[in-house]
Amino acid sequence: MTNQVIEAICSRRSIRKYSDRSVETDKLVTVLEAGTYAPTGHNRQDPIIVAVRNSGIIKTLSRLNAGIMGTDSDPYYGAKVIILVFVPKVEDNPNAVQDGSLVLGNMMLAAHSLGLASCWINREKQMFSTPEGKLLQERLGVDPAYEGLGALSLGYPLKPNPKPLERKKDYYRIID
Ligand SMILES: Cc1cc2nc3c(=O)[nH]c(=O)nc-3n(C[C@H](O)[C@H](O)[C@H](O)COP(=O)(O)O)c2cc1C
Repeated sequence: MTNQVIEAICSRRSIRKYSDRSVETDKLVTVLEAGTYAPTGHNRQDPIIVAVRNSGIIKTLSRLNAGIMGTDSDPYYGAKVIILVFVPKVEDNPNAVQDGSLVLGNMMLAAHSLGLASCWINREKQMFSTPEGKLLQERLGVDPAYEGLGALSLGYPLKPNPKPLERKKDYYRIID
């Protein structure tokens, strides 16, 4: 069986090369809204989503992330939009990671359905634990009790999506 949602789920890929085309604000807002419709444990809606288009802040994010990664390359692949997701510490909300991950997943699918491309980028927890990262978190208006969960690089893809990767054979089972 298939439909548009299933097709979008099965054709999404992590994209690491973006064109120079800017992401229109209405599309960005649609992606962010889709993130807010992710379910959260006890409907706490704790995750905080911050979309960054400011080139200076993007440079700082890239430098901080590359510093953790130990490279000189841009971990966000030159994307013009970086969407950060922050969550409370697990001690404050045991569902924090699950909630934030669903937000990121919703946004990746929404982006793909609109012809945009994205890639989950890691290391935000470590980045926002550094002194410079803590200051940046404050500048972004995010409660210091929160920590970075993950990010998306977002943009228009340079090329059509490659085919989906093969799934392992025993990924699921049905027990009757
Ligand atoms: C939790 C998580 C962390 C990831 N971190 C990165 C990352 O830091 N950099 C990156 O290029 N891709 C990252 N990815 C993307 C994965 O490499 C990608 O999803 C995987 O290779 C499968 O490819 P696909 O998304 O195209 O199916 C991450 C994905 C997840 C779910």
